Amino acid sequence: MRLHRREVLVLAGGALAFAACSSSGRTAAPRPPTTVPLDPGHPWWLQRGFAPVRKEVEAFDLPVQGALPPELSGLYVRNGSNPRTGTSPHWFFGDGMVHGVRIDRGRVRWYRNRYVRTPLYEASAGFGTGAPGGTNTQSNVSCIRLGSTLLTSGEVGLPFELQTSDLSTVGAYDFSGRLKTSMTAHPKLDPATGLLHFFGYGFVPPYLTYHMASPDGRLLHSTEVPVPGPTMIHDFAITEHDAVFWDLPVVFDMDAAIAYIKDPSSGRFPFRWTPSYGARVGVLPLGGNGDQVQWSSLDEPCYVFHGVNAFRDGEHVVVDVCRLSSVFGEHTTTGIGGELSLRRWTVPTTAGKVRDDVLVGADDDPGELPSRPPGLVGRPHRYGYLVQNRPTDDGVDLGGVIKHDFRSGRRTVWDPGPTRHSGEWLFVASPDGRDEDEGWLMTYVHDEATGVSEFVTLDATDVAAGPIARVRLPQRVPYGFHATWFPA
Ligand SMILES: [Fe+2]
Repeated sequence: MRLHRREVLVLAGGALAFAACSSSGRTAAPRPPTTVPLDPGHPWWLQRGFAPVRKEVEAFDLPVQGALPPELSGLYVRNGSNPRTGTSPHWFFGDGMVHGVRIDRGRVRWYRNRYVRTPLYEASAGFGTGAPGGTNTQSNVSCIRLGSTLLTSGEVGLPFELQTSDLSTVGAYDFSGRLKTSMTAHPKLDPATGLLHFFGYGFVPPYLTYHMASPDGRLLHSTEVPVPGPTMIHDFAITEHDAVFWDLPVVFDMDAAIAYIKDPSSGRFPFRWTPSYGARVGVLPLGGNGDQVQWSSLDEPCYVFHGVNAFRDGEHVVVDVCRLSSVFGEHTTTGIGGELSLRRWTVPTTAGKVRDDVLVGADDDPGELPSRPPGLVGRPHRYGYLVQNRPTDDGVDLGGVIKHDFRSGRRTVWDPGPTRHSGEWLFVASPDGRDEDEGWLMTYVHDEATGVSEFVTLDATDVAAGPIARVRLPQRVPYGFHATWFPA
């Protein structure tokens, strides 16, 4: 049972003791058990702070406890899974709902939550209505900034455009009809060129397609990247020269998918952990053709939902990742993964083998849902920001923030306490910052003891000090996935 005790579910997705405890040092002690237990007879993603909310609300001129920086103006908006019907067969399979906070020179003008009005939402159809893809998506994973356009994305399907003024849905966004594949939830904006690099995966060929778009929404380049089969590829990375894909052994299972579409309660998750598929990392010239990809093998099968960042080091690409030893091991509906660790992959730019170094092991709270300064995407980074992820047998137990120093290995933690849970801590750079950690970390924090949700901001240079600003929200914000920041 020891191994099972360490099992963690991680995420595409994801707190605040005002007597917060914080610590720093080489490793962080695991979080104490949450004081709010789950009901084992009920899906964990439909209870406690995971449970969906039913109302779309808005509130204006919200008081700030502490102080938001006066130079901070923009929109923080985060996506998550929130089934309209109140139930879903998996945490990942609810309708998309965004929660946004509009900040104007340090004042909070409004909070709103809105469903992403996809055809599935409009039909109250849940997930089980035909093959996912196109507009048949719940668009529930991330928010993306493309120039002045706010997009949401799911795991598969087209992105959807929202109005930044009120978070209402404009409609599916297909790059003027040119995007012929899905767009996954983790595009990368190159800070030097402003180009958006992204990919989609499919259940039939082409299995993997890499795309590049301009900030004004022109799809400039699409190319198939050859892979052996239909795998789940949740995230990728770029450097200033490369696009980096990890093709790992979570393989689409048609029989399970058909069973799932017919009866989502069947528990037949449509992807299967298949170690025999192998594990490889591909490096492709940025903007290049798919047949230029150079694959390097990993010695052990594993799964990676999220990369922290990547950069070029001579003839190698360095990629820091949140690695699971396995995921979706059986046809489970809970999505349990194996041991989580923070790894550094060193990948040759010509085919070879990946060097795989453990930076933080499973017993030392490696963290998930990583964030990095947007200006350093694809460039050498010193810091990454991750959410504490307590091992648990029954779902997900996210805590506060870990600031990981990749140069020294030092970790600085703000732990909000056992009843408070956060999610991805989005890094927003200070407009005048010179050091890479000059900026703020933002997320929603929910206290399961009091039922109160807050929008919380930390100073990224002093994480251990805890929040510099807290904004009490008019309703609970369920734990969710990924956010973006639109500067005003
Ligand atoms: Fe994700």
